[in-house]
This record gives sequence, C-alpha cells and structure tokens, in this order.
Amino acid sequence: MYALLSQEGNLYLIEKPGTYNYDEGMVEVKEHHINNIPSYVNSSKGIRFVLFEPYDIDLFEKSFERYAQIIHEKDLGYLMRRLSLNKNAVLLESGSGSGHATIFLSRLFRHVDSYEKDKRFYETTKRNILLFKVDNISLYHKDVIACSKTNYYDAILFDFKDACNIRYIEKAREVLKPGGIIIMYFPVVEQVMEAINNLQQAGFVNVSLREILLREWKTKPFRPKNIMLGHTAFLIEARKV
Ligand SMILES: C[S@@+](CC[C@H](N)C(=O)[O-])C[C@H]1O[C@@H](n2cnc3c(N)ncnc32)[C@H](O)[C@@H]1O
Repeated sequence: MYALLSQEGNLYLIEKPGTYNYDEGMVEVKEHHINNIPSYVNSSKGIRFVLFEPYDIDLFEKSFERYAQIIHEKDLGYLMRRLSLNKNAVLLESGSGSGHATIFLSRLFRHVDSYEKDKRFYETTKRNILLFKVDNISLYHKDVIACSKTNYYDAILFDFKDACNIRYIEKAREVLKPGGIIIMYFPVVEQVMEAINNLQQAGFVNVSLREILLREWKTKPFRPKNIMLGHTAFLIEARKV
C-alpha cells in the first residue's frame, strides 16, 4: 500500500503502479516512483503529489474497517499515556470490536491478547490487523471470561457492556499481575457506578473516574467551532494490590 498526498491536501491510498484519476487530474505512478519513495509525481493538471509509505493515521482514515463503536481518539490518546508501562508489558483487551484500540495499543506493548466474542467483529478486527501489518497481537474469538492466565497481564482494557459485572471484575483481578492497572470504558453512568462498586468490593485500589472533553477550533477566523462533541464515555482506572 502507498499513499499519495496532493498539494491540495487530499490523501489517496494505492496498491501498485498505475494510472489514477482524481479531482486534481490524472496521476501516473510508475515503478521508479515506487522504488524511490518518498518521490514526487505531477498530475495532468500540473498538481504535485508526494508518494510515500502510509502512516498508521493514513491507513486508519482511509482503509480502516469500522464495525463496532470505537474508542474515540481523544480518549485513546489519554489512555495510551496511562498505559505506557514498559517495553516488556503485556496487555489483555476485550472486546476487540473493530480492533481500533487493539492496533494502536499494540505499539506500546510487547504483546496484546484481545478477546472478541462476536464472530463478525472478530473477523473485522482480523482484517484490520492484517492491514496494519501488526504481529504482536493474539486475537481470540471467545468471551474474555475464558482467559486463564493467572497473574499474567500488566494491564487490562475492558470496553464492553457487561464489564461492570462482578464476574468480569473478578476475572480481571485473577489474570492481572499484582500492581497491574485496569482501565474500563463505559458510556453510561449506571455502568460506571456498578463498576466502581465492584472494583472496590474486589479489592482494587486507587480507583479513579475521568471524562475527557475536546474543543475544536476554526483557524479562519480563530475561534472555537460552534458544535462540540458532547459525550463519548467515562474512563475508570484502578490498580490491583
Ligand atoms: C464497543 S466494542 C469495542 C470497541 C473497541 N474497543 C475499539 O476501539 O474498536 C465492544 C465489543 O465487545 C464485544 N464483547 C461484548 N462482551 C464481550 C465479552 N464478554 N467477551 C469478549 N468480547 C465481548 C462486543 O461483541 C463488541 O464487539
């Protein structure tokens, strides 16, 4: 896969050399352009394109197959900072959904075990992992309750409806290393209240609750945009002693 970024700021992904037609005109990508990336190609309308290997952000914006509700990037960014543990750390994640958090978090961990119980979501995540060429993820088509690696994980990310249930919180305590960290992502306050109650009951400490707000601005003229993203989800964090 290769990326073509035009002077106008439009980005396109291509698979191989060939002739491509865009609003900016016809672009002929030859073998020598590919062999010399980053390289430049002019379109039939004289607009310059740069050809390069796409970054994750390009693959995500252009080719990521989205099926389930993904963790919003404003939350994922914060979460990635909290889950930057060390280069040997291992993560348990559930559910995989479309694999959005799975793929970006895999950059931070030595290994990620990701559980997804729904076949369609499991298949979607599998395709997205292939697209991003990630090789440190084990994807399981199973309920996460089946995970049986006692005291094994440095961190857990739970993003599924029933994760607030005591069964799943007890499971998290069983598989997490002492000192390990759990982060849970819930859109609804009732789930948050149940999860916090159950985390405390299961002996987790340093339980904290956050919501992250993002305000985008226009740059012409400089002012906040009128419409703001109202709510995505709450982030709960806790440690196992
Ligand atoms: C909101 S999505 C997760 C999205 C994902 N975090 C992302 O960023 O792409 C929730 C997923 O959890 C899966 N799920 C629900 N309960 C589960 C369980 N007990 N074990 C494994 N997966 C589960 C659902 O099928 C669904 O795909």
